[in-house]
Amino acid sequence: MAEAQGDAVNIERLGETIGAGVSGVSGRDLAQAEIAGRLLDALEQHGVLVFRDLHLTDPEQVAFSRQLGEVEVLPIPGSDHPEIFTVSLDPARATSAEYLRGTFFWHIDGATDDVPNKATMLNALEAADEGGDTQFCNTYAAWEALAADEQDRCRHLRVLHSFETSQRLVYPDPTDEQVAFWRKRPSKVQPLAWTHRSGRTSLVLGATADHVVDMDPTESLNLLYRLEEWATDQRFRYQHHWAAGDLVVWDNRGTMHRALPYTAASGRLMHRTTIVGDEPFS
Ligand code: SIN
Repeated sequence: MAEAQGDAVNIERLGETIGAGVSGVSGRDLAQAEIAGRLLDALEQHGVLVFRDLHLTDPEQVAFSRQLGEVEVLPIPGSDHPEIFTVSLDPARATSAEYLRGTFFWHIDGATDDVPNKATMLNALEAADEGGDTQFCNTYAAWEALAADEQDRCRHLRVLHSFETSQRLVYPDPTDEQVAFWRKRPSKVQPLAWTHRSGRTSLVLGATADHVVDMDPTESLNLLYRLEEWATDQRFRYQHHWAAGDLVVWDNRGTMHRALPYTAASGRLMHRTTIVGDEPFS
């Protein structure tokens, strides 16, 4: 098959405020800098890019990821592609199956880090026979649609994020060992409204958000709940129903995401790569 040129790439909006479908490219084309450059621009604009029926190989996924930025390398001894993390609830297929249930709640990858991931790529090897769609919401659009007085109220608030808070949603009655393990990951205070280098502002929310600093606990709970309901409203949301061969890339800085519940027996199997961030929360 001849290689596609940049102008062969077709990008079509999927939702009102989030998501675009990409066609006209093969897995091999995605390693071309010109095409990847167009797709990076589209990612900034649409938040989520969807490639149907692409059937990317592992080397192609790594090559495309490298075109988008520095790729996270995982400590997986003996792996041919240590950049690839297996997403599956089946412990025989994925070592982190226990923690992946945390992905059933809205979150931003790296919300407890100084610099969150730039983007994430999920390649469906096998789709779930039931459940397992992924939902995304646009936290730039949610911020922009807030009333001016709400923006003024939120602009200078700071929120404590912790891994423990997100894991307690999955394990509300944890053992002492679980709590001790979760607490090894330091918690972090982040701005509620993140103004990016681009000048755009997004909301920083999700399952790791514990409380608004220096706010009455009930008021804090109500505010975080209300803002999450707002940001994940249908008009800011795209839901992806997976088929084997699909690839989805999301801009982790201006979106939140969650997987809809599925079971280990569903067969769902994804290969994930992560593009390292280069812009701290501020
Ligand atoms: C993730 O949160 O990284 C995974 C989302 C999914 O499995 O759909």
